[in-house]
Amino acid sequence: MTDAVVRAQQAVAEMDISEGVAELEGTAGRVEVDDKRMINCRADLNQLVPFKYDWAWQKYLDGCANHWMPQEVNMNADLALWKKEDGLTDDERRIVKRNLGFFSTADSLVANNLVLAIYRLITNPECRQYILRQSFEEAIHTHAYQYCIESLGMDEGEIFNMYQEIPSVAKKAQWGIEYTREISDPAFTTGTPETDKALLQNLIAFYCVLEGIFFYCGFTQILSMGRRNKMTGVAEQFQYILRDESMHVNFGVDVINQIKLENPQLWDQQMRDKATQMILEGTELEIQYARDTMPRGVLGMNAAMMEEYLQFIANRRLTQLGLPEQFKGVTNPFPWMSEIMDLRKEKNFFETRVTEYQVGGALSWD
Ligand SMILES: [Fe+2]
Ligand SMILES: [Fe+2]
Repeated sequence: MTDAVVRAQQAVAEMDISEGVAELEGTAGRVEVDDKRMINCRADLNQLVPFKYDWAWQKYLDGCANHWMPQEVNMNADLALWKKEDGLTDDERRIVKRNLGFFSTADSLVANNLVLAIYRLITNPECRQYILRQSFEEAIHTHAYQYCIESLGMDEGEIFNMYQEIPSVAKKAQWGIEYTREISDPAFTTGTPETDKALLQNLIAFYCVLEGIFFYCGFTQILSMGRRNKMTGVAEQFQYILRDESMHVNFGVDVINQIKLENPQLWDQQMRDKATQMILEGTELEIQYARDTMPRGVLGMNAAMMEEYLQFIANRRLTQLGLPEQFKGVTNPFPWMSEIMDLRKEKNFFETRVTEYQVGGALSWD
């Protein structure tokens, strides 16, 4: 036996297991359901069961059942159309470029916020399990945009820098970054009313506004393109992403409402006003984005229709948080969008096939 092996054996023999877990995170000992809390939890975070928040575990399972990868989508027809001189109008090209520009960055912002801020501060293992799944889905989304940009031979510098160079894109990114700055500081901790509220604001900003509002104009535009048999590969990628995103939003809403339930003092009038203001600012930014990306009517829609749709979405987000609607009498001008978000099984967008996901399986097309 070498000296190194002897030293390793000695170190293992002398290990003290009483300190490990407690030092790592929380208090050591068996965890009871009642010990579990969304934030500021003192119980051991390495014990997944017993579950307290079954909805979080169920969403983790549902997310896994919807697994997909960008390379499984055929991009040949898109490339041919993109290269063809009169294949798309200038307005249609603008929509494809702006949306790849915005989304390629936005999903990175969301992923970084999840991993560098939210994950650490949500003190519940079943929610963390979903956040890990969501983080991987965000990586897949960024991959999907990169795959589209590469497949179409686009100018990568132009697309990836839009979040700094195109005002309607930059404003949305900037708005999100403001809410991650404080809580992604490694020294930030929750535990006071102010810091708990900062986390709550971050959750509202990212789940309800970024994922819950900022994605909707672009999704609608690209999916409308697919419905017209244009850029069907890009549209198919966006269709899967939208399905993932609608689950992310629902998870975020559940987390926010659970935190409210466990910490009612945080949801005071000031916080309610702030949440309403955030959702309305997000809606206004998205309306501006709609006007910038659709200076004229295109693909059977226009900026005014999108404005109503976004107001409809904003009402929905407010209601989900238990806040009063702010836009009276608006209706959904794009009811087909809700059909696409159906999680389990859906009629394909292009109405040529039914898509069904198998757990752990590849996509299968009939
Ligand atoms: Fe995403
Ligand atoms: Fe997401």
